[in-house]
Amino acid sequence: MIFFKAGTDVITSGNHIWDEKETMEFITKEKRLLRPQNLIQPSPGEGFGIFQSKNNKKVAVINLMGNVFMKKCDDVFQAAKKFIEEVKLKKDADFIVVDMHGEITSEKMAIGHLFDGKVTAVVGTHTHVPTSDYKIMDKGTAYQTDLGMCGDYNSVIGMNKDNSLKKFLKDNSARRHFPATGEATISGLIVTADDTTGLAQKVQPIIMGGSLQRRS
Ligand SMILES: [Fe+2]
Repeated sequence: MIFFKAGTDVITSGNHIWDEKETMEFITKEKRLLRPQNLIQPSPGEGFGIFQSKNNKKVAVINLMGNVFMKKCDDVFQAAKKFIEEVKLKKDADFIVVDMHGEITSEKMAIGHLFDGKVTAVVGTHTHVPTSDYKIMDKGTAYQTDLGMCGDYNSVIGMNKDNSLKKFLKDNSARRHFPATGEATISGLIVTADDTTGLAQKVQPIIMGGSLQRRS
């Protein structure tokens, strides 16, 4: 897979995980690809893993999916509580990262608070739009409601803008959604964490290239 060849350590996912049917087979062999932990069971693959970093640290990653305006899945707050009871920072893993894949900001913020002090970072995904609320919460967990996407922002959440507009305007010539292929922006968050506590020390957003850099 191209991302792993490029140096990606772990890939989390969301509601589109089974769009390509072969992923159901692929995920049983590739443990670095996670599907949401709280998918309705039975589901192939895992939603959580502990991975070895290049500097020999144990990094736990869990992928959760929200319940509001999303594909039906088990209660995300119950899944989060169970995880907090089972996987402890500095005992089971040196660092813990939570990807909260969800549509609404309130649900993502509440999950952030639930995990505060218990994991290194809680970051949201799914909306494709980076939020400016990146911070370290009261008890030391890094947080951002949404990391944004890596893609062309001169678009409608990464899809061709003219075609998307046609769809919204109910124009019969609209086609199935297809990606915008202009210059991409890389969007994400760098979290620096304390080796002793496993908690965050510094958060730094990344917005590089493409239309998000052309703000003036
Ligand atoms: Fe999504």
